[in-house]
Amino acid sequence: MKWVCQELGMKSILLLLLAVCLCLSIGVQAQITDPSEVSALKEIRSNLIDPMKNLSNWDRGDPCSSNWTGIVCYNRTLDDGYMHVQELELLNMNLSGSLSPKLGNLTYLKILLVNGNQLTGPLPEELGYLPNLNRIQIDQNKISGELPKSFANLNKTKHFHMNNNSISGQIPHELSRLPALVHFLLDNNNLSGHLPPEFSELPNLLIIQLDNNHFDGTTIPASYSNMSKLLKIDLSSNQLSGSIPSNKFSDNMTTIILSNNSLTGNIPVNFSRLPFIERLSLADNQLNGSVPGTIWENRTLTNGHKLIFLEGNPLCSRANLNLFCGSNQDGIESEIPKNIPVSCPSQACPPSYEYPPGHPESCVCAAPLIIEYRLKSPGFLRFGPYQNGFEEYLSSGLRLNLSQLDINSVTWQEGPRLKMSLKLFPDNSSHVFNSSEVRRIWRMFTGWQVPDNDTFGPYELLDFILLDPYKKGMSKSLNLLLY
Ligand SMILES: *[C@@H]1O[C@H](CO)[C@@H](O)[C@H](O)[C@H]1NC(C)=O
Ligand SMILES: *[C@@H]1O[C@H](CO)[C@@H](O)[C@H](O)[C@H]1NC(C)=O
Ligand SMILES: *[C@@H]1O[C@H](CO)[C@@H](O)[C@H](O)[C@H]1NC(C)=O
Ligand SMILES: *[C@@H]1O[C@H](CO)[C@@H](O)[C@H](O)[C@H]1NC(C)=O
Ligand SMILES: *[C@@H]1O[C@H](CO)[C@@H](O)[C@H](O)[C@H]1NC(C)=O
Ligand SMILES: *[C@@H]1O[C@H](CO)[C@@H](O)[C@H](O)[C@H]1NC(C)=O
Ligand SMILES: *[C@@H]1O[C@H](CO)[C@@H](O)[C@H](O)[C@H]1NC(C)=O
Ligand SMILES: *[C@@H]1O[C@H](CO)[C@@H](O)[C@H](O)[C@H]1NC(C)=O
Ligand SMILES: *[C@@H]1O[C@H](CO)[C@@H](O)[C@H](O)[C@H]1NC(C)=O
Ligand SMILES: *[C@@H]1O[C@H](CO)[C@@H](O)[C@H](O)[C@H]1NC(C)=O
Ligand SMILES: *[C@@H]1O[C@H](CO)[C@@H](O)[C@H](O)[C@H]1NC(C)=O
Ligand SMILES: *[C@@H]1O[C@H](CO)[C@@H](O)[C@H](O)[C@H]1NC(C)=O
Repeated sequence: MKWVCQELGMKSILLLLLAVCLCLSIGVQAQITDPSEVSALKEIRSNLIDPMKNLSNWDRGDPCSSNWTGIVCYNRTLDDGYMHVQELELLNMNLSGSLSPKLGNLTYLKILLVNGNQLTGPLPEELGYLPNLNRIQIDQNKISGELPKSFANLNKTKHFHMNNNSISGQIPHELSRLPALVHFLLDNNNLSGHLPPEFSELPNLLIIQLDNNHFDGTTIPASYSNMSKLLKIDLSSNQLSGSIPSNKFSDNMTTIILSNNSLTGNIPVNFSRLPFIERLSLADNQLNGSVPGTIWENRTLTNGHKLIFLEGNPLCSRANLNLFCGSNQDGIESEIPKNIPVSCPSQACPPSYEYPPGHPESCVCAAPLIIEYRLKSPGFLRFGPYQNGFEEYLSSGLRLNLSQLDINSVTWQEGPRLKMSLKLFPDNSSHVFNSSEVRRIWRMFTGWQVPDNDTFGPYELLDFILLDPYKKGMSKSLNLLLY
């Protein structure tokens, strides 16, 4: 050491140490995320056109430690000593370009969301080898090509949301092996051929949406009646022909939509034995046979809602079917639940404050957080019967009291999706949420930390509105959280 000092001088030693430190720290930085995932991410980005520059921070530092936009990592290093990418959230960024096969190198990925972009090109086969993938949402893009057979390996995937693309060809029957599949949404694509009868083997399937495709060949496979958990099937606007199978669908069915096909023959007697049905549409087909006398028993109009739609079929020439063959009124409408009336002194709360409807007796003015929220694929068509269950589900999911949540309005949108405007109130005694509570709630929504519920399906956060009492300081730090 002594001769080194003499040789180089103290100043040089310091410089050398500094250089070593820099090298080490750069080395550590670069090793935080698994390097094969870092190189995959770079490749994924190079295949994308990013008009709003949402991914501009993907040049800087390390994906997991430098908060790259749209990348959520596991919250600790795994046994291999690396951080790994858990979620890719590139939704609604107007990205074009294509999905890189290198997505298959993000082997720890659980959630892939690229919906609401302008992506073209095929689905890379490599996506099928992501062993941990729970959810894939590519809806509302311009993806073309066929569904890769490799997707049959996605044995943890619960949600396939691929509607509103240009996916073509047959659905590979191999997908009937998917043990976890809950939602299969491929409506508004260019799929053709027959509906795979093997889908009846999907043990957990709740929702099938394949409307607005080009399915033809035979009619609905008789085996679909064997899906015991099924709630909702929409096969409308295809080219299905033949008669409707007479087997009885699951008792839990709420929605059967077969309209705008070329179905012929009878309406099966079993269609009048579905206790929870909310919408049965057979409109605009070639049905000309018998109609079970019991079909209108108990279910002509419930609270003014039409449940059965038969218009546009030859059998409508029969006089007694007017009720179901009437004008093509849409049964899907907005419902605005009533707020609980408040019996407090009528002196107004200051602006931004109001009486929490959940505590009509307390008369404490409180400032709500306003959340614009949307259920992407609810398993029902009328909110009323599900409102209490939803309030329980969401408030407990957010770890709030039931009385802190107020549903201000609900609106059905295309899809059908259910948009809601929610108000969250601080608990009984306080006027405002404190800032850590606001952040916590924000993170629950943006991080999909409210667990999915099969009935309500996945959700998206549309807006998180901070009224004046929360604006100071808070919106800045929320923006930081938003990368
Ligand atoms: C990405 O995956 C492919 C196919 O599995 C493999 O050949 C390649 O080596 C992987 N790349 C990296 C950087 O790990
Ligand atoms: C993408 O960037 C635009 C323009 O900066 C911004 O308005 C938008 O919120 C960003 N979107 C996302 C999802 O980050
Ligand atoms: C990344 O975000 C976290 C909180 O989300 C924050 O604590 C951290 O400082 C951020 N890191 C960088 C490099 O911006
Ligand atoms: C990390 O994530 C796991 C699972 O998602 C969770 O159980 C754990 O509490 C988290 N740890 C921290 C420190 O946030
Ligand atoms: C999204 O991209 C399309 C075409 O690429 C363009 O016409 C549109 O203006 C873009 N929208 C935004 C918000 O940038
Ligand atoms: C899922 O697939 C992997 C690999 O293909 C296999 O090791 C695993 O046992 C499968 N899990 C289930 C639940 O089938
Ligand atoms: C999907 O496409 C159909 C037909 O173009 C359209 O009516 C519908 O609104 C689209 N759905 C969504 C969720 O964008
Ligand atoms: C749909 O597929 C047909 C061939 O089956 C093709 O001719 C047509 O261009 C496709 N349409 C779209 C919108 O991709
Ligand atoms: C329904 O499942 C049972 C038992 O698995 C089977 O015997 C029957 O053939 C199936 N029905 C149809 C219509 O596929
Ligand atoms: C029908 O729904 C109920 C309530 O969600 C559930 O307990 C039951 O298991 C379902 N029936 C079947 C056959 O899945
Ligand atoms: C109609 O309701 C009555 C009484 O609740 C019941 O006995 C009957 O089975 C129901 N009919 C049908 C077709 O479900
Ligand atoms: C979904 O929420 C409803 C209402 O809170 C609840 O009854 C049901 O058990 C939940 N289902 C699951 C699978 O958690």
